[in-house]
Amino acid sequence: MTSVHTTITRDPQASCDTDLAAGPWVFDLSPGYGPGASQADLLPDPVVRPGQLPAAYQQMDEAELHRRIRAAKQTLGDRLVVLGHFYQRDEVVQHADFVGDSFQLANAALTRPEAEAIVFCGVHFMAETADILSRPDQHVVLPNLAAGCSMADMADEESVEAAWEELVELLGDEPGTDGRQPVVPVTYMNSSAALKAFCGRHGGIVCTSSNAATVLEWAFERGRRVLFFPDQHLGRNTAKAMGIGLDRMPMWDPRRPLGGNSEQALREAAVILWHGFCSVHRRFSVAQIEQARATHPGVQVVVHPECPMPVVDAADAAGSTDFIRRYVAASSPGDVIAIGTEVNLVNRLAAEYPDRTIFCLDPVICPCSTMYRIHPGYLAWVLDGLVAGEVRNQITVDPTVAEQARVALERMLAALPR
Ligand code: 13P
Ligand code: SF4
Repeated sequence: MTSVHTTITRDPQASCDTDLAAGPWVFDLSPGYGPGASQADLLPDPVVRPGQLPAAYQQMDEAELHRRIRAAKQTLGDRLVVLGHFYQRDEVVQHADFVGDSFQLANAALTRPEAEAIVFCGVHFMAETADILSRPDQHVVLPNLAAGCSMADMADEESVEAAWEELVELLGDEPGTDGRQPVVPVTYMNSSAALKAFCGRHGGIVCTSSNAATVLEWAFERGRRVLFFPDQHLGRNTAKAMGIGLDRMPMWDPRRPLGGNSEQALREAAVILWHGFCSVHRRFSVAQIEQARATHPGVQVVVHPECPMPVVDAADAAGSTDFIRRYVAASSPGDVIAIGTEVNLVNRLAAEYPDRTIFCLDPVICPCSTMYRIHPGYLAWVLDGLVAGEVRNQITVDPTVAEQARVALERMLAALPR
């Protein structure tokens, strides 16, 4: 049985490079991209900015990097825990003590209170969350500070505060006769700590892709409407699955008054969707699903809910990265499964189940360019630092922001995935 597409044709419209179809991948040293959704974070001092990894680590051969990582882990023992998101490259995942989706990794950060350092192989908002949930004396480390999330950056605190002021002016902020607030803010985990704090302050909550439905139910018990940011697609897909009509889901464009909506549309809204999206999942299309079904009759299509609604509707199933992992685990030898999510997870599942045909829906396979920034070179460098007693690339959320964000995160942790 084959596992992944072996021939990849170059799409002239594509922004992805076909050379990225398989690892091992080189360093991404471009200095242009900052630390992602970190506007409110305290920058570590000294900070190695993107592109400034010491030359020795850039030039070290792969085998030596892995040897150093293993040696440092052995030396540090229980004083260290390494967390890895499913989208991390295999060269990094092999060193993780826990591999999971965003919800599982937020919980994993809580399960090792004895660890002095939590090294988060993921993106910035995940490390921030670990810092908020962990004990004050634990250090959270993001191996490469340029590992942000472009979706998280699409909702900044100032724009969300401005939107909130407009909504309060239009709808008030007093509970109605049913005891419910006019609007409850819900932020996707993929957002800055500042926005999680905003939700904590305003009776809101955080969700992940695995518990978004439970969280929306929680929010509708307390509010007549939800302001959902930053991912319009997760918000729309989840609300639609709950039976909410598209006519009650206006989109909020932060550059326009009232988000580009009429007063009436906002009064009648159930879920106001922020104009944000994931650039990886936005690439999946209905045409790709049709192509997969034409080429592989009987193929099962499973996608992540960050994909646009028509893609989720055309798929056989949709869910978080862990849902996708479980979907594949529950399949049978000989099954053909097309997956709409980040390619590292797809390739890993294909390798894990060689008796099934598993491939990425997008023929021009595109890794998440920010998850990709955690290279073994960065991991070796931060771990060597810990062995030497130096905490490199520590993520520290301002204590006031952290306290307010924790309120919204603890509500999220109580909202279990279905
Ligand atoms: P989950 O791990 O929650 O499925 O999220 C996917 C993702 O995009 C993380 O950035
Ligand atoms: Fe952000 Fe999308 Fe990458 Fe996840 S896959 S980190 S949402 S850009």
